[in-house]
Amino acid sequence: TFVVIENCIKCKYTDCVEVCPVDCFHEGPNFLVIDPEECIDCTLCEPECPAEAIVPEDDIPAGQEAFLELNAELSREWPVISEMKPHPEDAKEWDGVPGKLKYLER
Ligand code: SF4
Ligand code: F3S
Repeated sequence: TFVVIENCIKCKYTDCVEVCPVDCFHEGPNFLVIDPEECIDCTLCEPECPAEAIVPEDDIPAGQEAFLELNAELSREWPVISEMKPHPEDAKEWDGVPGKLKYLER
């Protein structure tokens, strides 16, 4: 499966959802996750993210291992998103800011 990692938080560009052939992205207030049960590893979403926040599960950056389980957990709670929407106005300012996990809203 592919995994959405920390840099999506508060950026949430949503370019990724447009290309997913199986609609496995789920949307929370300021973060998106991928349903590992649905992802077919097509790789299409990875290059679409302007924040480089999508990685294969075997390539999760050190320190962000918790995002594997977070994607699984939150995809069971949040609704599917399959159409792009405007990103937060301050998305660019948050792109690359470390330690954003504490801002994750559920
Ligand atoms: Fe969807 Fe393919 Fe990305 Fe998996 S790898 S989330 S199937 S676009
Ligand atoms: Fe997040 Fe990147 Fe998609 S910032 S919403 S994973 S395009």
